[in-house]
Amino acid sequence: MIGIFDSGVGGMTVARAIERVCPGYPLLYFGDIARTPYGSKSPETIREYSRRNTDFLLSHGATIIVIACNSAASTATDALRSEYDVPVLDVITPATLKAAAATRNNRIGIIGTRATVRSEIYRERIESIHPGCTVISQACPLLVPLVEEGWLNRRETKMILRRYLHPLKLQQIDTLVLGCTHYPLLGKLIQPRIGKRVQLIDSSVEVARYLKEYLDKNKDINNKLKKENPTSRFFVSDSTGPVRKLADRIFGRNIHLEKVNA
Ligand code: DGL
Repeated sequence: MIGIFDSGVGGMTVARAIERVCPGYPLLYFGDIARTPYGSKSPETIREYSRRNTDFLLSHGATIIVIACNSAASTATDALRSEYDVPVLDVITPATLKAAAATRNNRIGIIGTRATVRSEIYRERIESIHPGCTVISQACPLLVPLVEEGWLNRRETKMILRRYLHPLKLQQIDTLVLGCTHYPLLGKLIQPRIGKRVQLIDSSVEVARYLKEYLDKNKDINNKLKKENPTSRFFVSDSTGPVRKLADRIFGRNIHLEKVNA
C-alpha cells in the first residue's frame, strides 16, 4: 500500500490528488490530528512524530511512504530515508522543481508553516535549481488551525490571509508555492488576494505527479502496489466533527476515518 502521512487533514489533499493522478493503488493514510499542528513544534519533536507515523504505516502494510506534510518533509526526510528501508517521497522536491520551471520574472513566493519556513529548504532548493532566482518566504502559522476548524470561507480567514500575503504582493512575485498541504483548501481565497497573474503551485498535486513518474520508472515497485480493486484506509489519531466534515469535502464522498491510539 502507499503510506501517506500528515499532521492532520492537509495530507488528504495529497491522497486525493494521488487517487486522481495515479488511480488503482490502495492508499493507507495517517493523519496525526491529536498532535497537529506540527509547524509550531521543534525539529526534534517533528522528527519523533514522523518516525512514529512511519512505523504505524509500515506496520499496517505500507511499502512506500509519501510525507504529505511540508513541516515533516522539511525536517524529517533525511532521517526517515536513512533509518527506513523503503522509498520515502517528500512533498517539497516536486514543488520546488515546478516553481523553478514556472517563474518568468524569477521572483517566487513561499507560504508555509513556521517549521517549513525556518528550515529554508524551499529557498535553498530553488536557488540551487535556478540560481539567480529570488525566493521570498512567509510563515503563516494561523492557517493550519483555521483549516482544521473548517473556517474555509470566513471573514476572519480572509483578513488573516490578506495580512500574510501583503508582503509577498509588494515583492512582485509571479509564482507562489502553497508550501503546506492544508493550503490548497484555501486556494480560492488566496488567488484573488495575491493577484490573478500569480501562478499558484500546489505541493499536493505536484507530489502526486512525481509519484506517478516514480512508479512508471520503477516497474517492480509499481507491480507490487497496483491492485484491481484497491481499497484505501484512513486512520487518524483523533477524530472531531470538523475533521470528519473536511475529509468528506476533500474527497467529495463519505470517508470512514478510523481512530487509533498511535
Ligand atoms: N499540512 C502540513 C504541512 O504541509 C501542516 C503542518 C502542520 O501541522 O503545521 O506543512
